[in-house]
Amino acid sequence: MSKVAVMGYGTIGSGVVEVLASNSGVIAERTGEAVEIKYVLDLRDFPGSPVENLLIKDYKKIVDDPEIEIVVETMGGVNPAYMFVKECLENGKSVCTSNKELVASHGAELIAIAKDKNVNFLFEASVGGGIPIIRPINQSLTAEVIEEITGILNGTTNFILTKMRDAGADFEDVLKEAQELGYAERNPEADVEGYDACRKIAILTSLAYGKQVDYNDIYTEGITKITAADFKYAKKMNSTIKLVGRSKMEDGKVSAMVSPVLVKQGHPLYTVDDVFNGIFVKGNMLGDSMFYGKGAGKLPTASAVVADVIEAARNKGSNIKVLWDSEKLALQDYKDVKNKFFVRVKETPSIVDEVNANFGQIVPLDIGIEGECAFLTDSITEREFESKIANVPELITRIRVM
Ligand code: HSE
Repeated sequence: MSKVAVMGYGTIGSGVVEVLASNSGVIAERTGEAVEIKYVLDLRDFPGSPVENLLIKDYKKIVDDPEIEIVVETMGGVNPAYMFVKECLENGKSVCTSNKELVASHGAELIAIAKDKNVNFLFEASVGGGIPIIRPINQSLTAEVIEEITGILNGTTNFILTKMRDAGADFEDVLKEAQELGYAERNPEADVEGYDACRKIAILTSLAYGKQVDYNDIYTEGITKITAADFKYAKKMNSTIKLVGRSKMEDGKVSAMVSPVLVKQGHPLYTVDDVFNGIFVKGNMLGDSMFYGKGAGKLPTASAVVADVIEAARNKGSNIKVLWDSEKLALQDYKDVKNKFFVRVKETPSIVDEVNANFGQIVPLDIGIEGECAFLTDSITEREFESKIANVPELITRIRVM
């Protein structure tokens, strides 16, 4: 019998309890023993809930109980989760978490403590919710040099962008609808400004290259400036607009960025719509692969956490190797990364000449919007783009092309 403690009885924590109860038969079979929850840590009371009699308020009870070998952390946020998780690991307990802030900030350190204590720190649910992506990178694609990871990693923004495209609506209107439907938080900043996707691509990039990627080093742009007009242009180009977290290795240098991009019809990420996530991984031997599914939500995310619990129970007394060193990975300056850009500028009598003088002979894209000129650039660095566009009056917007 594996005795488990769950820290945090919110959406994901209660999902973990539900998955363990609903699938107890197959979970016991696959683990080789029953998995039972002994404690649920939460400051709130949940009278009438299935965990009413398991609730505790002091995390020390978990840390000090030798019967608890596996701890689930579903509290979210860095503090106090970091202190609780660290103490659990230091006391010889494996920890399974869905907490991307914690993993992105302290992943390398917690992995090192787990190794030292011969236990496991597992975090499948921290990226892509229920989609298997951490274990594939850590255990299945180990023969590959990963050349690119491009992910639609945030369900909220993907829902908003899909609605904007389908309804021809503007960002603010769709955000309001998403909030009413419960798909977006009342304070949507972490999602719409790309911070959530940034932490997730930082985790994937750290794992792919075995060193700590500081998410503060990743240039991040959200979707708040995307408009219905941008989608009209995208349609004209047989493309759509997606918020992606992207890391690439070229000539031995790793770059990472979060931004909206134009994705052409035919690319595997083009059809990833609504709240779904998709993660495109390119290996030097495998070529392209794609991981798709529910990247958020109670039961899909809880399922990934419980899969980690099973993995931890199967590996009692041994540490699963995770290559993620605390040495910092120096990312390439994003200004040196090349992209094609879709550009909209205000129209003036000499606009085409000015654009041509700076970007070469462009082909204007016309969808009948008065007073502006739109075009695509060649593949140029961000630095080159900035210096060229500075010579052209009044930029309306620019979106990178994938
Ligand atoms: N806010 C996140 C999303 C939840 O929308 O994808 C899952 O991390």
